Amino acid sequence: MKVGFLQFAPVLLNPEGNIEKIKQLLSDKEFDLIVLPELSNSGYLFSSVTELESVAEEIPAGKFCRGLCELASEKNVYIVSGICERSDNKFYNSSVLIYPSGEVYTYRKIHLFMEEKKWFEPGDRGFEVYTLNNGIKIGMMICFDWLFPEASRTLALKGAQIICHPSNLVLKYCQRAMFSRAVENRVFTITANRTGTEKNANNELKFTGNSVIVSPAGDYLASASEENEEFITVDIDPSIALDKNITSMNNIFEDRRTEFYF
Ligand code: ACM
Repeated sequence: MKVGFLQFAPVLLNPEGNIEKIKQLLSDKEFDLIVLPELSNSGYLFSSVTELESVAEEIPAGKFCRGLCELASEKNVYIVSGICERSDNKFYNSSVLIYPSGEVYTYRKIHLFMEEKKWFEPGDRGFEVYTLNNGIKIGMMICFDWLFPEASRTLALKGAQIICHPSNLVLKYCQRAMFSRAVENRVFTITANRTGTEKNANNELKFTGNSVIVSPAGDYLASASEENEEFITVDIDPSIALDKNITSMNNIFEDRRTEFYF
């Protein structure tokens, strides 16, 4: 299975431009599953609710989501993308999984980072796993969720073989920590980070790029640069993630001692 990420710099408050750019960057590329950064439609550093309202969209009716559905169907691929969601006048930092058939599934970020708490409702739907047409199971988490090992653990216990991880990382820890998220769950992880800088009156954020794909054995199968927009894919055998034995006498799921955990 050919899986990968598109690392790029979404433009703040420009969903039309962002979907056009994604379509243009992916139109001639080959892949089965691609992961895009967090908030790929809207950008990240909002200054007001008015700004947020101007770009948040309903799923799946919004233009950005429909654009991704067109792309998934034209290319017969799966797409995972971060998206600024509006639902019943509430806003969520969400990600969508889009099937080639146009089916859309949504995850709403559970662990909100910094000022995201001013703009978004915390996710209310839990961590779900979806079966692709080839039988492979995938799950989604968003950016700061990485710091809560319970997120990836829950996805892995539910059977996820690949964890798709749209991100807008500003701290320096995650890309190295994904070694542990992958190894402790024996899953593939795809962290699609963004590049670029965003500024408003109070703040300036530099996003750290360096998107990574990590194998269940902790190998970094792909690693992007800090600054450049990059499309990278690797060929993986997701069935490797079904084997939870780390030694001949240790199965990382069967060896859990849940009576001693909170
Ligand atoms: C983050 O969760 N966007 C750091």
